[in-house]
Amino acid sequence: MSFSSLVNDLSFKDKPSAASEQRRQMARGSSVSTFDDGRSHLSRARSYASTSATSVSISGDIASQLHGGYSHPLARSWQAERQLTKSMLIYPLFITDNDDEDTPIPSLPGQNRRGINKIVPHLEPLVRKGLRSVILFGVPLEPNVKDALGTAADDPKGPVIASIRLIKQRFPQLFIVADVCLCEYTSHGHCGILRDDGSLNNELSVDRISDVAIAYAQAGAHSVAPSDMNDGRIRAIKLKLIEAGIAHRVLLMSYAAKFSGCLYGPFRDAAGSVPSFGDRKCYQLPPGGRGLARRAIERDISEGADIIMVKPASQYLDIISDAKDIGKNMPIAAYQVSGEYAMIHAGAKAGVFDLKTMAFESTEGILRAGATIVISYFTPDFLDWLES
Ligand code: PBG
Ligand code: ZN
Repeated sequence: MSFSSLVNDLSFKDKPSAASEQRRQMARGSSVSTFDDGRSHLSRARSYASTSATSVSISGDIASQLHGGYSHPLARSWQAERQLTKSMLIYPLFITDNDDEDTPIPSLPGQNRRGINKIVPHLEPLVRKGLRSVILFGVPLEPNVKDALGTAADDPKGPVIASIRLIKQRFPQLFIVADVCLCEYTSHGHCGILRDDGSLNNELSVDRISDVAIAYAQAGAHSVAPSDMNDGRIRAIKLKLIEAGIAHRVLLMSYAAKFSGCLYGPFRDAAGSVPSFGDRKCYQLPPGGRGLARRAIERDISEGADIIMVKPASQYLDIISDAKDIGKNMPIAAYQVSGEYAMIHAGAKAGVFDLKTMAFESTEGILRAGATIVISYFTPDFLDWLES
């Protein structure tokens, strides 16, 4: 409704004319827009004409004007619900059982497999720059260390447990997440214990994986994050944490919505965890399974997860948003996986976009979808980029 018609109407209030009476009858008990409908075509036309210089009608919808709200760089940043900060980032580390190793991973530009002796020198400058959290993946390289039960997963002298102790001692402020799975340690490369016919034995797998989780937690991990996708492992781990008397100090982060697909290739290269037969489709979710993901998220929350994770991230933004919706009262993590990272590097190398710009744009999308924690191989870069 234009200002002039409002004034007209008010001025007729005490001395009603036939026209204004009719107008007020039309407006009674209804919305402003109905009121507006009472205006003559002539006054509407005048109102448009009077502002034709700016092509904006003041009697029209003034919400059409948006540019002013984001013309300044600071105002642009205010448009986001969440800004990326250093404390949102978790940095994945691949730790081998070869103590002095420091080998670049060809399919993961800038990422190395490191032995225990190389971890502290690598982390020192990153912690100084504000690194707050790491997630550890063990990579056994010694011959004959893998077997059908993934026995090496909780070897007290193995790379994960040794590095938990070391990192905790040298960087007491750093939050340590231990990825929990068997695929790096099983001879067949699957994420659990198999039956004779090659299918996953869920019961034995859950039993074993929950033991491994407790071993990492006992060693000092602040968080255990089962990535295996066996049914019921969150509940089993939570119960064993309670039983061990450490549930109060260990955060249980569930890879709740973990989809199967082709984005984990570089990781499996890095971790040497390619399945020797078959694939992971029997336990990882089908890419189209939005409802299934919602059920998995609901289940893991009810089984005692403290944080829900969605993985991969950029291809599954709707799932992140669902996780935020279902898990209203908890933090949501998203894993920007190895294939996403490698794709961004490849795109930048091919001149499709600038690496830093794309790294930020992808992360902004992940945060916008609802994540408050991002597991990213870009973490060391972001520590620099967020400085400037
Ligand atoms: C192990 C595990 C995988 C990833 C995290 N934990 C690989 C897989 O499930 O095959 C993928 C991480 C990445 O691709 O960066 N269960
Ligand atoms: Zn696995």
